[in-house]
Amino acid sequence: MSKTKVLFVCLGNICRSPSAEAVFKELVNQKGEAKEFEIDSAGTHAYHEGEQADRRMQTHALKRGYDLTSISRPFDPFSDWDNFDYIIAMDESNMSNLKAMARNESDLKKLFKMTNFASRFKYDHVPDPYYGGSEGFELVLDILEDAGEGFYNYIKKQHK
Ligand code: 4NP
Repeated sequence: MSKTKVLFVCLGNICRSPSAEAVFKELVNQKGEAKEFEIDSAGTHAYHEGEQADRRMQTHALKRGYDLTSISRPFDPFSDWDNFDYIIAMDESNMSNLKAMARNESDLKKLFKMTNFASRFKYDHVPDPYYGGSEGFELVLDILEDAGEGFYNYIKKQHK
């Protein structure tokens, strides 16, 4: 069976989407399904291209056992739409930037907002933690753990 390919997208690819990548990798690992997935992340902008995840985000993630190893890269409209099955945006601004880069209906069908899969946390976006304090980084992880479960269940239903 071919792998399910998932790309998480935020603005800078140093806080929210690398965390989503690590949280979701750990989730499928716990389910014993790591080999069935390919999971990556990207930013809509290239400001931080080549950088490791934000130190503060790394510290908060590591406290929950998530090692943020990904290196920031911008979304590539010439290959990412074709390479991934699901493109998951963190907020409305990421959604509209991605929509503007979609080439057709089939691209748009791959696009979802992460918070639509959350059930415990009633947010309509994953708030950008970059200019705030510690609580913001913890909230990102709380929402991603919640939405990650919902997203996993959604994928399973699609592939039944
Ligand atoms: P992210 O957070 O989109 O979750 O990676 C941000 C990272 C960098 C900036 C803003 C948000 N920035 O303005 O450089």
